[in-house]
Amino acid sequence: MSKQTLTITDNRTGETIEVPIGHDTIKALDLRQLKAQPDDFGMMAYDPGYTNTASCKSRITYVDGDRGILRYRGYPIEQLAQESAFLEAAYLLIFGELPSADELAHWNERIMRHTHIHENLADLLKTFRHDAHPMGILISAIAAMSTLHPEAKQVHDNQRRLQQIWRILGALPTVAAFSYQNRLGRPYTHPHSALGYIDNFLYMMNPMNQDDGEVDPVLARALDALFILHADHEQNCSTSALRNIASSDADPYSSIAGAAAALYGPLHGGANEAVLRMLTAIGDVKKIPAYLNKVKNREARLMGFGHRVYKNYDPRAQIIKKIAYDVFEVTGGNPLIDIAVELERIALDDEYFASRRLYPNVDFYSGIIYQAMGFPVDMFPVLFVLGRAPGWLAQWVELATDPEQRIARPRQIYLGEDERSYVPLAERA
Ligand code: CMC
Repeated sequence: MSKQTLTITDNRTGETIEVPIGHDTIKALDLRQLKAQPDDFGMMAYDPGYTNTASCKSRITYVDGDRGILRYRGYPIEQLAQESAFLEAAYLLIFGELPSADELAHWNERIMRHTHIHENLADLLKTFRHDAHPMGILISAIAAMSTLHPEAKQVHDNQRRLQQIWRILGALPTVAAFSYQNRLGRPYTHPHSALGYIDNFLYMMNPMNQDDGEVDPVLARALDALFILHADHEQNCSTSALRNIASSDADPYSSIAGAAAALYGPLHGGANEAVLRMLTAIGDVKKIPAYLNKVKNREARLMGFGHRVYKNYDPRAQIIKKIAYDVFEVTGGNPLIDIAVELERIALDDEYFASRRLYPNVDFYSGIIYQAMGFPVDMFPVLFVLGRAPGWLAQWVELATDPEQRIARPRQIYLGEDERSYVPLAERA
């Protein structure tokens, strides 16, 4: 077997060091030995946006961006989306194995019990203005939950952690539905814990305004599969934010509120909302070439396209495109789908997008489905949060139980002023 080391020569000094390689990776701290002067700080790696930095060892989600592969705990996303259910996939992500029938029944029961939220939280949701963005409400509500459950600070206690996991997964759909009802001026529809997780969420939301409150099984199945597709995606922006916050032993509500804030941005989970607004602004297939020209002139971004990791195709986007047509069978079509399909066709044929390996990502079609199901556009990132919550929780548990993890504290390259003396106000130019 070849030697598992890397030899580095510092041409400033001629010094050579040999550092160990593990998992195709060297330890960044090993570079610190390289110094131009003995009293130098030592060499660091510069990596804005962490494009090539592994911040943890993880056993949860595997992504191969070049081959378009996504697996949760080894199981292909295509099989999970087709055969599993959201809470089962959540269990798999958090505990590492598929549950037995008894384990699954207990897991479902515990989570559905926790769909009933504290009255203070329900009251808090009423204090937002009617036009408040639902993500602002959700982020605030999750942060507020830490004040109601101070025992959640015991992040190194297994049982305490489990209680917060049940509570977070249970409460999020209720918080989302209550904030939607507030906006409409409707009374709260309280959770129906005998229903399944997704059915209960659709029952509380009633986005299609059905008189009988019945939940269409095709729509429930579609939303279930969409949530599975969103459930984890290894060290993305929001998960890294969560790990950063949780690395200081913050409670999980504060950490997840921070993760949700990171997800809110249009380059991440806010993209599904941005795609819908983009497709609506384009408005007509004839206007697609003009929009793509704007993108190429860097006056706009093609929202729902491109990914830091997937440079071939995003397997989630392919599954979602199929789900869209299942949903339209029930809801009737969404005129934006024609614009989206044509936009994808033209962009994939275009040298600008092909040479940059830009393909539709998970957010390109999800918004069109959510809109057809009756969800308002600004609720789309909230739906992403509901889907992503199990992944955040799995990553939080992994971090909390990983003896190699330390408080996140990156370095910087300081390029500011050298020491200088304070100038009194009267003497400044
Ligand atoms: N439209 C136009 N050009 C793009 C796009 C896009 N959506 N994405 C990347 N590019 C170009 C970019 O301008 C750059 O070109 P050049 O080399 O000439 O300067 C090249 O492609 C490489 O892009 P990058 O910005 O270095 O890529 P990144 O890995 O830093 O960013 C991204 C990844 C997802 C933020 C980006 O592709 C993007 O902004 N996409 C649109 C927003 C979006 O759909 N986000 C959802 C991501 S998937 C769901 C999730 O995880 O949240």
